[in-house]
Amino acid sequence: MTNVVSLLPKLKVTVIDCPVETWRDDASREAFNQLVQLKLDGYGSEYSHGALPLDGVDWVATHIMTSAVERDGTLKPLMSLRIATLDRCEEYNMPFPALALANSSGAELHRKSVEKTLERCRENKVRIGHSSSWTVLKSVRENKIMSNLLKEVVAAVHFSYEEDHGIQEMFCAGVTRFKADIYQQALGFELLQLDGKVLSPFAQKSLNGEFVNMLLQRTPSPLATECVQKHRDLWLNRTVFSDARHLPKEQQPQAQLKAA
Ligand SMILES: CC(C)(COP(=O)(O)OP(=O)(O)OC[C@H]1O[C@@H](n2cnc3c(N)ncnc32)[C@H](O)[C@@H]1OP(=O)(O)O)[C@@H](O)C(=O)NCCC(=O)NCCS
Repeated sequence: MTNVVSLLPKLKVTVIDCPVETWRDDASREAFNQLVQLKLDGYGSEYSHGALPLDGVDWVATHIMTSAVERDGTLKPLMSLRIATLDRCEEYNMPFPALALANSSGAELHRKSVEKTLERCRENKVRIGHSSSWTVLKSVRENKIMSNLLKEVVAAVHFSYEEDHGIQEMFCAGVTRFKADIYQQALGFELLQLDGKVLSPFAQKSLNGEFVNMLLQRTPSPLATECVQKHRDLWLNRTVFSDARHLPKEQQPQAQLKAA
């Protein structure tokens, strides 16, 4: 009998951190090109004209791309995710996506809730980010086994990145049509609240009015931790394109540390 697991492709994770800083590196530029194409394809198969999966924050955020390793060793991108921390957005004078999203969609209660959280995080020196742009190629997600595997992997890379970079809280917006908000809750995200009241889904303007739930994660769930452990090797063997000063302290070159 054929072992189903042996038919699954070997996966490789690539982290493209702040592409504007690594633009001179041919390999980083090539990876970023692939990422842009993946985002266009992943979103393009679900949304009508005008729903742009790209913006200025893409240049300064961190993109985590998962690819299949082909027989000849080349990478075929399957899934990506973007993480933008508040401090990174401020460093480059870019809008923080959670706030921009609520603002541009006219979601006033969500905007207030995000602002309150940001205020608390600033006061308590809590590092916070926004996780978004999760997409999987349509042809790949049609295969339920691959779709389930990639859901584990997206959790693994998301929470491994959080851990490595000391990110304590994370916003996201989950598209209800794809039950993304349900999966995010299973991973430890909670629906946004304002004055003790849970907020409802709203129409996201930049996605042509697609309904999303906004969520905030403070503690990873047991499922999230399980995914991190299960796919630890994938994370440890990742390729990283990053400017040295954006790496966690223990990954920075010694000379950089001495200068700091
Ligand atoms: C979000 C995404 C990565 C999830 O991928 P996935 O979970 O592997 O697979 P699918 O999206 O195909 O399916 C997820 C669920 O939504 C359901 N679904 C998918 N398309 C649907 C539709 N048009 N109408 C109703 N339900 C739909 C599926 O039946 C499935 O339900 P199940 O889990 O009960 O079986 C993928 O849908 C995607 O890339 N979407 C475009 C980009 C996007 O909107 N990203 C924002 C995510 S917050």
